[in-house]
Amino acid sequence: MQYKALGRTGYEVSTISFGAWAIGGTWGDVNDAESMQTLHKALDLGVNFFDTADVYGDGHSERLLARLRKERKDPFWVATKVGRRSSPHTAQSYTRENLTAYVERCLRNLDTPALDLLQLHCPPTDVFYMPEVFGVCDDLVKAGKVRFYGVSIERAEEGLKALEYPQVQSVQVVFNVLRQRPAELLFPRAVERQVGILARLPLSSGMLTGKLTRTTQFAADDHRSFNREGAAFDKGETFSGFDYEKSLAVVETLRMLLPPGMTLPELALRFIASFPAVTCSIPGARRTDQIEQNVFAGSKGPLPEDLVRALRDMYERDVKPSVHQRW
Ligand SMILES: NC(=O)c1ccc[n+]([C@@H]2O[C@H](COP(=O)([O-])OP(=O)(O)OC[C@H]3O[C@@H](n4cnc5c(N)ncnc54)[C@H](OP(=O)(O)O)[C@@H]3O)[C@@H](O)[C@H]2O)c1
Repeated sequence: MQYKALGRTGYEVSTISFGAWAIGGTWGDVNDAESMQTLHKALDLGVNFFDTADVYGDGHSERLLARLRKERKDPFWVATKVGRRSSPHTAQSYTRENLTAYVERCLRNLDTPALDLLQLHCPPTDVFYMPEVFGVCDDLVKAGKVRFYGVSIERAEEGLKALEYPQVQSVQVVFNVLRQRPAELLFPRAVERQVGILARLPLSSGMLTGKLTRTTQFAADDHRSFNREGAAFDKGETFSGFDYEKSLAVVETLRMLLPPGMTLPELALRFIASFPAVTCSIPGARRTDQIEQNVFAGSKGPLPEDLVRALRDMYERDVKPSVHQRW
């Protein structure tokens, strides 16, 4: 496993970290015994950073991570997110009172005196123009409830605005073979400001592993069946907002680009590792074989330059017109 500094936090996090959404819910049935085995396996393999949120399974994902902390001595960091418990989820709901209550609930779920990294959970764009919200985050740090904070964003411009707040340590964004725009402006600026980048949906909801087909069925409570058009939350969070059939065609193009011996998950994760601005990928995993494969694949580091160029050309030609200006 390779490790990189996360912003100015002093945390040295695994370049393949862990996305803990699916073990909470919204991806069909959860199996806690299997989820715990997967979390243990992640630690065994050198993963030391876990991304979760207060709304993943309504806190279930956070509570599994609290269990992991009890069951293991190995040090690790947990990044959680708040903001989306508000209903309706509006910029006006990002009040001191709400944020403080949400953080207190995370502390209870995670059974910890202070959050390692708090992220605002894809707030409405207006929140990035409300310095008072970032002031509340500063106060939570001063109060010792939060060690560091950052943001999770939908649109690259939200990340650019967030970088203007001096205490922001991390920006989490959808970045993968099918969503390359953050590399244009956001990444260079984040490097300049010494702010970490967490790449989410590195496998485009599983699509880039090559295991999905035209006939794959998803459970009714799996977002891959109900959120393709954004019925419940931003459609960019499901298959990166890129059409399912077109994604399957891209996967076939990727297969043809694979050097001998390389797998599709390896191609996807090493593509992300080829961008020095990215601190880590946070692939979701629900089973031990998935985390094993992802760690093995991703920790090999950057792809050869000609392959990165081929993936960038493929994006320009086959993907960019559908997604580039949307996020
Ligand atoms: N708004 C936000 O801030 C936000 C939004 C979305 C995600 N996130 C974070 O980002 C993390 C990663 O994104 P994601 O989980 O949505 O998408 P992802 O990492 O692109 O895809 C994860 C899914 O791919 C499948 N998979 C993983 N490894 C595999 C392997 N080696 N072989 C075959 N299948 C494999 C698993 O699903 P199946 O086994 O079910 O196929 C897994 O749940 C989340 O867990 C969450 O922590 C944050």
